[in-house]
Amino acid sequence: MSEFQIITPALLEAFERIVGKTHVLTAQRVEADVYADYGRDHTEDLHFEPGVVLRPANAEEISQIVRLCHENYLPITPRGAGTGLSGGALPIHKGVVISTERLNKIIEIDERNLQATVEPGVVNEVFQNAVKEVGLFYPPDPASKGSCFLGGNLAHSSGGPKAVKYGTTKDYVLNLQVVLPTGDIIWTAANTLKNSTGYNLTQLMVGSEGTLGIITKVVFRLLPYPQHNILMLVPFRREEQAAEAVAAVFRAGIIPSGMEFMEREAIAWSSDYLKIPLTLPEDIRAHLLIELDGQDLDQLYKEAEQVYGVLEGYDVGEILLADNATQKDELWKIRRNIGNSVRYNSVYKEEDTVVPRAELPTLLRGVKEIGARYGFKSVCYGHAGDGNLHVNIIRGNLTDEQWNVGLRQPISEIFELCVKLGGTISGEHGIGLVQKGYIGIALKEANLNLMRGIKQVFDPHGIMNPGKIF
Ligand code: LAC
Ligand code: ZN
Repeated sequence: MSEFQIITPALLEAFERIVGKTHVLTAQRVEADVYADYGRDHTEDLHFEPGVVLRPANAEEISQIVRLCHENYLPITPRGAGTGLSGGALPIHKGVVISTERLNKIIEIDERNLQATVEPGVVNEVFQNAVKEVGLFYPPDPASKGSCFLGGNLAHSSGGPKAVKYGTTKDYVLNLQVVLPTGDIIWTAANTLKNSTGYNLTQLMVGSEGTLGIITKVVFRLLPYPQHNILMLVPFRREEQAAEAVAAVFRAGIIPSGMEFMEREAIAWSSDYLKIPLTLPEDIRAHLLIELDGQDLDQLYKEAEQVYGVLEGYDVGEILLADNATQKDELWKIRRNIGNSVRYNSVYKEEDTVVPRAELPTLLRGVKEIGARYGFKSVCYGHAGDGNLHVNIIRGNLTDEQWNVGLRQPISEIFELCVKLGGTISGEHGIGLVQKGYIGIALKEANLNLMRGIKQVFDPHGIMNPGKIF
């Protein structure tokens, strides 16, 4: 990567001609804190200063910028809202940050075909609400849905609580317009539900973390909006039993639309942070937040009965059945703000572990055992129905040495355990920068060589988000 060039005054002028001077931001031109924000995301306390930040308006402008960068060997970091947790949007080589913030239009909601065409800078929740207004449903709902961009969701194939029933971002993408690292603009597929026409470039782009190109338009498929839901908060006296009950609910034939695990501290920190009072009896160690949804309320009550039947086999406290929309919103708000509340309490490392659902109890036990052996505290929560456990390792009083070097071995052990259980090292947050050193635990050299070859074909000059994934 040593061949990267620097941004000369002539290149800066060329960028100004493409996007207009007001959309070329440099450290000299904007306030320090505004500029600094383009150099960080939600990953730990990491920060890298961009060489320049460009805010193009459309695919054509991005194409011109990328072509210049390709010809001049300038590294590019594509950027959405900066809510990522693996450092994918950090400009580690300085260079050119391309922000998609101005590509924020919902171009069309096609009610005839249950599809929508959008730009990547649309906020997830804005899109969800827009399609809901016409009775449609876009399920992927990361915890940061109020601020994250759809483009970032595509970059990591983000999930969220509803993934357990409805799948992740990848399951809703039909077609993508992409600016390739050479500046060419392509569409990856067709606007069809089926497609058996050559390699699946759409799914290759999804989860590629901005290393293969910049997504500039997306065609999503949509579903009819489910009319009803039931939400219950189930307290457990033992963490492991909460984890065990997860697979048991599915075995009973129920597919919940949410099945979230929260250990005691996760829920306690979040309700404190939000100042939403929650009664937490001393003996309660963990909770499951279980949601059922569908079009037929009677059917949902029958399913809820079945869930209660399964839970009778465990040592649970008093189950809270949310009886109005406000209470449901509060419970989801507590769940969604766990990450924020942990960040508020301490710098933390986020490990996005994922295993087959029924292995969750073994994973949880292993994480706690490893933490006890190496002397770190973790707060665990996540999408239990997907076997996706977010392990937040708390910095607390750890020294720089312990934090930056000492944790590598225990984190490796956690990831090795995931792989041994049939899982992998990231379910929905991606590899980005901070998990890159561990990718060899999950993928063999042969896999990585294929990925390197693909990268080379797409990006012969290695300019597109260099230094991420592998
Ligand atoms: C969550 C984010 C961190 O589930 O993925 O809260
Ligand atoms: Zn999550």
